[in-house]
Amino acid sequence: MAMIWGLAKLAGAFVGALVIFFIVSISSGALFSMRGLDEPSYVVTPEDDAAAAPEETQTFEERMAQADIKAGERVFKECRACHRVEEGMNAVGPSLYGVVGRDVASIADFSYSGALDGTGDVWTPEAINEFITNPKAYAPGTAMTFTGLKDPQDRANVIAYLESVGS
Ligand code: HEC
Repeated sequence: MAMIWGLAKLAGAFVGALVIFFIVSISSGALFSMRGLDEPSYVVTPEDDAAAAPEETQTFEERMAQADIKAGERVFKECRACHRVEEGMNAVGPSLYGVVGRDVASIADFSYSGALDGTGDVWTPEAINEFITNPKAYAPGTAMTFTGLKDPQDRANVIAYLESVGS
């Protein structure tokens, strides 16, 4: 009988220890997660702001300086629906052979919409960059029904690719 009581006490002590262990671990877990809730206010760093607005981190010149022609050739697939880079080969849009530095709307056998006429004389890299960011905003009424390339490095890469073909 005494032995059974002894065992029962032991079991009771064991259960008690277990209960204390759970209480401690739950409350320390709660403390831990409370700290976790506070954390975001410390984590907002300039790097995070930069990631949210990639456009402001680098100038167009810097992006051109690090542009990747091979990557630009892949981006050009989006243009290839309407453009060729071979000389004299017009499609939905005019041939883009040597377009960097070329006079605006100057392919004689392509019938332009007229919307590009007031935008400038020469397709500088900067002008192409602005045009392909949002063609309709740059040249209202343009026949280039393309929504635009949102990624600034994609634009620099495709311009570097166009520069490499024929100009
Ligand atoms: C849906 C068809 C289409 C797509 C896609 C397209 N373009 Fe065009 N693009 C045109 C048309 C049509 C014109 C002529 C615009 C006009 O006359 O208003 C044009 C004109 C241009 C011009 C002016 C050429 C000149 O001779 O003055 C440039 C530069 C140009 N596109 C670059 C691009 C680039 C780079 C891409 C890909 C990022 C692209 N386009 C995607 C149809 C397209």
